[in-house]
Amino acid sequence: MTKIAVIIGSTRPGRRGANVAQWVQDASNSHEAIKAGDATVEIVDIAEFGLPLLDEAMPALFGQYRNEHTHQWSRTIASYDAFVFVTPEYNRSVPASLKNAIDFLYHEWSNKAAGFVSYGTQGGVRAVEHLRTALAEVKVADVATAVGLQIFTDFTFSDPTNPLDPGTVTPGPHHEPALHKMLDELIAWSGALKPLRAEGAAH
Ligand SMILES: Cc1cc2nc3c(=O)[nH]c(=O)nc-3n(C[C@H](O)[C@H](O)[C@H](O)COP(=O)(O)O)c2cc1C
Repeated sequence: MTKIAVIIGSTRPGRRGANVAQWVQDASNSHEAIKAGDATVEIVDIAEFGLPLLDEAMPALFGQYRNEHTHQWSRTIASYDAFVFVTPEYNRSVPASLKNAIDFLYHEWSNKAAGFVSYGTQGGVRAVEHLRTALAEVKVADVATAVGLQIFTDFTFSDPTNPLDPGTVTPGPHHEPALHKMLDELIAWSGALKPLRAEGAAH
């Protein structure tokens, strides 16, 4: 069984990220491995953890956490085998909320696989490229296939000029097959890395 967390990277009131994550979960339900019960997909919302800007004295590599919010975030991330990061593009990168949440932990991410669903005016691809680089440092294996939703074509808004309208995710027909291909890669790589996770847990 592969436990997959769909992590909502943005925390902004009125964010579109929550609807994107919901689309990911709904569209994953028709994936073969998930239908068969070999994998599960759950949404993890960074906003629910109330993480401040990094306030741990020791680098996460040492695993010596002082704060209850860090322990809660640690327990949650440690309980998953793989991640789908749902990220918008903020100023050509990831939202600070997501980078901060990654920085809080280390071993909880390591030897796990990650895929990406991004969104923005150019599909959020520049955020994903930055995210891939950051995740390399915490030993996450990033799969090649990703989904990039375009704000102006893959969402429906009652008022497209209103940044507080989260809109409805109405993705083009090519996105769900891409999501499923990404899940194939994610489940395969997460399985391949399982012995390394077991080795880490034994030390
Ligand atoms: C601070 C900020 C910076 C942004 N910068 C970019 C950007 O560089 N490229 C882009 O395509 N969209 C950019 N946008 C637009 C976002 O992609 C769009 O608002 C998206 O819905 C934000 O995600 P969220 O609704 O989950 O917060 C930016 C939005 C914000 C709030």
